[in-house]
Amino acid sequence: RFGGHAQVWLFGYGSLIYKADFPYIERRQARIRDWSRRFWQGSHDHRGTPDAPGRVLTLVPDPGALCAGMAYLITPEVFAHLDHREKNGYLRHATTIEFDDCDRAEGLVYIAARTNAAWLGPASEAEIAHHIATSEGPSGPNRDYLTHLAEALRALGEHDAHVFAVEKHLNALDRREPG
Ligand code: BEZ
Repeated sequence: RFGGHAQVWLFGYGSLIYKADFPYIERRQARIRDWSRRFWQGSHDHRGTPDAPGRVLTLVPDPGALCAGMAYLITPEVFAHLDHREKNGYLRHATTIEFDDCDRAEGLVYIAARTNAAWLGPASEAEIAHHIATSEGPSGPNRDYLTHLAEALRALGEHDAHVFAVEKHLNALDRREPG
């Protein structure tokens, strides 16, 4: 049991938006405050390798910002599965989740902090796009992660300046280097 609760809200801002391969009780579009998505985390186990880590999302503190995503109501047992899937530096963090109808709930979100071993940190959006274009891991090409995420955000009607700027740079790279 989780602090006496049999159900917990989990906020997803990355692959959890488009890939929910776990049982959930309810799923709702949501946002959290004071965090922004950044491709500043290295991926050794999904979108890259230990020698050539890919770049995946984490959240960085950003007072006043709103981060849009998807919230899942799950049982504590499901966290055991997710903790395994999301190893590689992410830790659970308590947060207030805001739903579309102004409803709120306390929940959890996975965040990789700058102190974790796989942290890559800031780079220009052009450099990040180049990095993503050339990385691949057991879960597939790093570019698929970016493309799926950008498409999922558009489907939710959400704009994310950082994600869409990296996508634009990646598309420009593709036009310069066809095939
Ligand atoms: C997310 O979508 O929230 C997420 C996915 C993988 C690791 C950490 C967070």
